[in-house]
Amino acid sequence: MTSEQKFPQGFLWGASTAAYQIEGAVGEGGRGRSIWDTFSHAPGHTLNGDTGDIASRHYSRLDEDLELIGRLGLPSYRFSVAWPRVQPDGKGPANQGGLDFYRRLVAGLRQRGTMPVATLYHWDLPQALGDAGGWTVRDTAERFADYASLVAQALADEVGMWVTINEPWCAAWLGYGSGEHAPGQTDDGRAMLATHHLLVGHGRAVAALRRASTAPVGIALNLCPMVPASPHPLDIEAARRIDGSQNRLYLEPLLKGRYPEDMATYLPAHRVLLDAVQPGDMAAIGARLDFLGVNYYMTQVIASTARLREAREAGYWVPAAAPEPLAPPRPPAAAGGAGDEPGHGANPGCVTVRRPDRELSAMGWEIDPHGLIDMLVRVRDDYGPVPLYITENGMAAHDYVGPDGAVHDAGRIHYLEQHVRAAADAIGRGVDLRGYMLWSLMDNFEWSLGYSMRFGLIWVEYPTGQRSPKDSYRWYQQVIAANGLPSGD
Ligand code: FCB
Repeated sequence: MTSEQKFPQGFLWGASTAAYQIEGAVGEGGRGRSIWDTFSHAPGHTLNGDTGDIASRHYSRLDEDLELIGRLGLPSYRFSVAWPRVQPDGKGPANQGGLDFYRRLVAGLRQRGTMPVATLYHWDLPQALGDAGGWTVRDTAERFADYASLVAQALADEVGMWVTINEPWCAAWLGYGSGEHAPGQTDDGRAMLATHHLLVGHGRAVAALRRASTAPVGIALNLCPMVPASPHPLDIEAARRIDGSQNRLYLEPLLKGRYPEDMATYLPAHRVLLDAVQPGDMAAIGARLDFLGVNYYMTQVIASTARLREAREAGYWVPAAAPEPLAPPRPPAAAGGAGDEPGHGANPGCVTVRRPDRELSAMGWEIDPHGLIDMLVRVRDDYGPVPLYITENGMAAHDYVGPDGAVHDAGRIHYLEQHVRAAADAIGRGVDLRGYMLWSLMDNFEWSLGYSMRFGLIWVEYPTGQRSPKDSYRWYQQVIAANGLPSGD
């Protein structure tokens, strides 16, 4: 162990999961339906028609999973509470059966010395609220605050950190813009309304959580460096636009209490968002955060579509659009052109390209540990000294059980090592980074890609639910025990 690979004392190692991705048992304990139940059951939305009905069977195997968490020695475990377990219809009194499950979980974690980190919303909106307009209507934000109060009252004694919402960009743009996620709508104006109401919901929930709990409160954003494909002004402008709609559209209201001004000239739909703002909203959204959660997976390289020929000549290539039927049809006016990544529809003229000779994960995402350093440093420089946690980072790989019965996921270990090193580097540059929570504890339902993508430290044999720790589980055990990378790495 070399000293520079050590992390500060108390650095919070952890692992993350989300309710719909692991729990299964969608009809148990009085749980109501969520928009993900509806979406995944409709034909053509997920690869192979996969659903979260059974998922990783975490609900029925809770005790075994707690044992695996204990053996791993996790100082923190980030999970999400399924809103439809707590309020089957999204409003009214709490369903005790739902709360009991999470009480067992947090008590079991505390017994093992693991701090529970609870996310309140990881995309499983109660269907009844979806029917009433979902996040496009303001009332959903008010309902979210009520739900936050119920959860806080029930779990405040045990939960060590609260995350209000996971990745509002994904919930808004993949859910209402590109239609790749539930509820599968394709309207940029609605994605803008959802953006504002998710953020208002966050602000209301912050207040509700602080009334009931003294634990730190934050939000998790999926932040992604947007690198221009060339120094040409058109490419720089394209990267700036995508950075605006994906990163700054969330960072600025949360940390500066205002929407980024330049977006009004870029995005026709931005007007819809500004028109939805009511007095007091920006102050609520910009309420002081105790921490910001950063979910980091990749860097994106952005070209102007007007410069695509030059980008191709420079060796860049355009990733294929999602295969049918996963790419829902978009109205022609909103479509941004060939090769657009999800959510770029609102930014016509911008396209994501891949650099030659870069490694990609099984998701097709460009692996760039340096991008993590850049992003953490940038958040510190542009938004001030908010404490940061990496709330997700990890890699999907084509894992398999070998002839010896084990999963030797050397590629994942390599990815994690590089990113843990990047986290140490960021701390060395003065970033107030306080923890690293890996995605994911176990293999799970990867949204529209179903069970085809494995991110876990623990292999899940889906037909039976049997667990087996991968090599990366043992690697992480050592990292946690040593509070840094094992020597020789
Ligand atoms: C993030 C999500 C998480 C998981 C990972 C791979 O965007 O928060 O649920 O799907 O990506």
